[in-house]
Amino acid sequence: MVSTRSDLLLLRWYVEMGADEAIGWHARDRLAVDAVSPNRPEPFRGPAAATPLPGTVHAGASSLAELEAAVRAFEGCALKRTATNTVFADGVAGAPLMIIGEAPGSDEDRIGRPFVGRSGQLLDRMLETIGFSRKTNAYITNILFWRPPGNRKPTGDEIAACLPFVWQHVALAKPRIVLLSGGTAVSALLERREGIMRLRGRWFDLKVPGLDTPIPALATYHPSFLLRTPARKSEAWRDLVALENHFHKLG
Ligand code: URA
Repeated sequence: MVSTRSDLLLLRWYVEMGADEAIGWHARDRLAVDAVSPNRPEPFRGPAAATPLPGTVHAGASSLAELEAAVRAFEGCALKRTATNTVFADGVAGAPLMIIGEAPGSDEDRIGRPFVGRSGQLLDRMLETIGFSRKTNAYITNILFWRPPGNRKPTGDEIAACLPFVWQHVALAKPRIVLLSGGTAVSALLERREGIMRLRGRWFDLKVPGLDTPIPALATYHPSFLLRTPARKSEAWRDLVALENHFHKLG
C-alpha cells in the first residue's frame, strides 16, 4: 500500500528503472540479514536467473491453431510467470510476409497482441508505404511469446525455450519472405555473431526445419531502435524498398 509521498517517489523511481511488475503481494527487504525462521519464504528466483523450467516437450503441431494452443500451455519459459498475456501473433495467417520481432512490450503484454505500442505503430506505417498491412497480407510475431519484465533483453535460456516454437511457427505459416526485425530475431534465427548494424539490409536463406526450400529473409532494424535513432530511418527505408522489389521479382 502506498502511504506517503516518499513511497510514491520510490515507486516512480522503480518504474523509471524498469521494475514495473509486482512479483508478490508483500514487500520484502532482500538486503536484510535473514533471521532463520521455519516460515521463511522461498528465496526469490526471478526470471533473470531463468533456466528453462521442466515443461511440456512439444511433439509438433500440424496447424497454427494447434501451435498457438501448445505455446499457451507451455510452462518451459520462466517469463510466463511474470507476463499478463501470451502474445502469439497478429495479422493474416498464411500471408506472404512474416515479420519476426523480439518480445512483447508492456502494451503487447496488456493487450495480448504483438506490435501494438509505439514501435508497432511505426512498423504499421512503414509496411503501409510498400503495400503491406496486418489486415490484408502480413503476419507478425516475436521470438519470445512473453514480455521480459521491464523490457529487459531476453536471456539465451529464454530464447532457447521459445525457439522450437518459432521454427514451427515459420514452417506452418510458410511465408514467401521473412522480415527479421532487430538484432534478437537476427541472431536467434540466423545464428550470426555480427550485430544488426552489420547485418541489416542483407538477405539470408532461412533454412526452416520441416520445409524443403529455404525462405528468403531480410535483416532490418527494429522499429523501437528507429524511434530512438531517427537518423537511421533512411537505411530502414532502403530495406523496405528492397523488400518490395524482392516481392516483385518473386511475381
Ligand atoms: N517490440 C517487439 O519486438 N515486439 C513487440 O511485439 C513489441 C515491441
